[in-house]
Amino acid sequence: MSSNEKELVGNFELTKQGVITRREVLMMGAVAATSIASVNAAVAATSAAASSSVAAAPAAAGKDPYTAKDFSALVSKNMEGLSPSQIEQHLKLYKGYVTKSNEIYNQLKTADLTNPNATYSPLRELLVEQSFAVNGMVYHEFYFGNLGGTGGDPSGDVKAALEERYGSTGKFMDFLKASGKCMRGWVVVGYNTRGNHIDTFGLDMHNMWSPQNVVPLLVLDVYEHAYMVDYGIDRAKYLDAFAKNLDWQVVAKRLAATKKLVSGADTTV
Ligand SMILES: [Fe+2]
Repeated sequence: MSSNEKELVGNFELTKQGVITRREVLMMGAVAATSIASVNAAVAATSAAASSSVAAAPAAAGKDPYTAKDFSALVSKNMEGLSPSQIEQHLKLYKGYVTKSNEIYNQLKTADLTNPNATYSPLRELLVEQSFAVNGMVYHEFYFGNLGGTGGDPSGDVKAALEERYGSTGKFMDFLKASGKCMRGWVVVGYNTRGNHIDTFGLDMHNMWSPQNVVPLLVLDVYEHAYMVDYGIDRAKYLDAFAKNLDWQVVAKRLAATKKLVSGADTTV
């Protein structure tokens, strides 16, 4: 499949037929906390063509599976309340997670399997830090992907889904900002494929309490590094700035892609 046959939708690549390739599905599922069983079942049901891409998916031996996405446009955009310097520093950190995700992926190929131990063993450390590095990479991609917009209010299906869950979009924004003040790492607003509704989860670290069966739609980074350059420790001002630069169109595209992916099916049985 050539690159021009794909449409980039946040972290999702859709074919012209609206099918998410298995590689992207596995990326979302394994890394961004969606149930692998759920997405596998959805992909299998969606398209034989998608299944055929499985064999061509992950990297061959010795090749890095992850490449940093280019979010440099957010720097040149000079967003209100999120300075180029702040974004540049944050992007450096993101690229570090990509580097470490590749490093760990390759080290796991030759991991020491002797004396595996749950207190300490090389394999354990690789597995634990893999979840930290890879989730750190992908949650940042969702975050940067839903920045660069004009804020305001959502419309269409996103508006309807938020109203159903939170009463109004205004109440949702209050919920989002309050959640952002509660957590130490992330707020993940996603489509819950188990209950077929929008839901919000909080994480204190990339690999702590990452939700299952939830496809991220809107991701908010509340680590201090996300705002210290601009606001010191004033997180409330950062949350206001985040809201002003939220790209609801990206959120809408993610929701549309997610609904197409999961078909509203409960695949946890
Ligand atoms: Fe971050």
